[in-house]
Amino acid sequence: MYIVRRILIRISVLLLTGVILSSCDRQKNMRGYDFIPDMVYSQAYDTYSENPNFKDSMTMRVPVNGTVPRGFIPFRYTIDSVSRAKAGKELFSPFLPTDDVLARGKLIFTTFCIGCHGAMGKGDGQLYSSGLYPLKPREISGVATSKLKDGEIYHTITLGFGSMGAHGAQIRSDDRWKLVLYVRELQKEAQKARDTIPGGKKPV
Ligand code: HEC
Repeated sequence: MYIVRRILIRISVLLLTGVILSSCDRQKNMRGYDFIPDMVYSQAYDTYSENPNFKDSMTMRVPVNGTVPRGFIPFRYTIDSVSRAKAGKELFSPFLPTDDVLARGKLIFTTFCIGCHGAMGKGDGQLYSSGLYPLKPREISGVATSKLKDGEIYHTITLGFGSMGAHGAQIRSDDRWKLVLYVRELQKEAQKARDTIPGGKKPV
């Protein structure tokens, strides 16, 4: 009995070694045998594979002309007053002035605009008051700018205005709209201040 058991154990060890050795392969890229290969072979054309169904034999197609990514608002305006007025009529803020939106707007304002326009938008930022920047930045919390439409302010931030540079490349679209709403907030503050100055001239 003992001998039979030893022989059986040896045979099993030999078989196991055989299986282990034969499952290894010199070519490491070969998967070997497929077991239930339902999803191994793609029925569809792979993105970069040749495709006999199209003249140019490309599987990946070019998007149709005029395609825009979801949620992306095209900006087709030029830097002139006619285009700015057009933007004012056509573009509207996708946001409401909630606390979060205004907080973000304030952060962007503090980062990019405060140096010229000043904390309250009076056009008295550090760059100007220190004499480094010679042109008086607009008082964007003033009456004139308050009359601009949201889209016009968005246009101004995106492409620049007169001697003010463009900020479209530095500030992404969402943040530019939040900035517009924050500028509105500064204008409300300034309006309140004008209303409370005794004998102050009421804006027309
Ligand atoms: C380097 C200084 C500078 C920076 C930075 C700057 N501005 Fe200006 N901004 C100006 C000047 C100067 C004008 C007036 C341009 C002119 O009249 O030629 C102006 C004009 C404007 C106007 C037009 C006002 C009107 O009544 O037509 C708006 C709106 C405005 N800026 C908002 C912003 C916002 C928002 C930012 C931040 C992204 C910003 N600016 C950053 C200097 C600056």
